[in-house]
Amino acid sequence: MTDAVRIVEVSPRDGLQNESAIVPTAVKIELIDRLSRTGLRTIEATSFVSPKWIPQLADAAEVFAGIERRPGIAYPVLVPNETGYERARAVGVEEIAVFTAASEAFNRRNINASIDESLQRFAPVMARARADGVRVRGYVSTVLGCPYQGEVPLADVVRVARALHAMGCYEVSLGDTIGVGTPAKAAAMLRAVAAEVPVQALALHFHDTYGQALANVLACLDLGARVIDAAVAGTGGCPYARGASGNLATEDAVYMLHGLGLETGVDLAALSETGRWLAARLGRETGSRVGRATAPG
Ligand code: HMG
Ligand code: MG
Repeated sequence: MTDAVRIVEVSPRDGLQNESAIVPTAVKIELIDRLSRTGLRTIEATSFVSPKWIPQLADAAEVFAGIERRPGIAYPVLVPNETGYERARAVGVEEIAVFTAASEAFNRRNINASIDESLQRFAPVMARARADGVRVRGYVSTVLGCPYQGEVPLADVVRVARALHAMGCYEVSLGDTIGVGTPAKAAAMLRAVAAEVPVQALALHFHDTYGQALANVLACLDLGARVIDAAVAGTGGCPYARGASGNLATEDAVYMLHGLGLETGVDLAALSETGRWLAARLGRETGSRVGRATAPG
């Protein structure tokens, strides 16, 4: 078992897609450039979805074209279909993420498709990505509960994760979209998925609605999980998931991981500063406990 954890920073995408006010393009670009200087190796930059569905990220092409892409850092973007793939490739995207869910009710609201329809929609995207040498990550949402369906059977989570991995996603991120999970439940979910998909190819994406995200991550680290999605300042949420709130704050995750002796390569002071900077741009206090505790003055 390695003593290193890779953080997938999702604030520029998951964080900013859920803001009610449109964040200026220049702020998005500066956020990504600041994050690029903190030691993070994966920064999810934006989303090439329909601007009618997510107007917050309608400037995806301008954002991606405007950032300084540093060597050694991956800048994946969300892509829901071939239109999104083409828009992303036109500005030089080299890594994408496709996304679906374990719950039919949520998937219908979020991407207007059944689970199987969404997997079929990804097939041509995967084929083009393979031909173009583009890496693909996959997301499964609602792995610990659905705002519309309630309980989500583990078998459904396993089926969708296995399908994404089998179609060529190098990593499958397991999303507790509305943050309702608790540690034993999160561990049982990961154990079930890891029986079918190697744990090295799994990531944890826990929203913190009920304050359980850090505890859930800890439970999953014990099972060998080593990739964690998080968002600085605890930003985030999905506009199509009723009750969804912010992601696990990256600062809080990194503080815990370092305390456990796990390496992240991330400069916590620089990260916390970036989280406070973002919160100020959004006109509120940082949602990270570490960010608050280490604020100057
Ligand atoms: P639809 O309306 O069924 O699709 O949406 P459509 O093909 O009929 O397209 C409708 C219009 O959008 C058309 O334009 C298309 O051209 C256009 P019109 O002819 O009306 O002028 N369009 C596009 N434009 C730009 N880029 C595109 C694109 N695709 C179509 N890629 C669709 C289906 C999937 C497009 C839509 O439902 C959608 O974009 N959904 C995205 C929702 C979303 O982004 N949700 C948040 C991300 S998921 C999340 O947050 C969860 C996660 O964090 C993990 C977790 O927490 O669990 C990942
Ligand atoms: Mg999310």
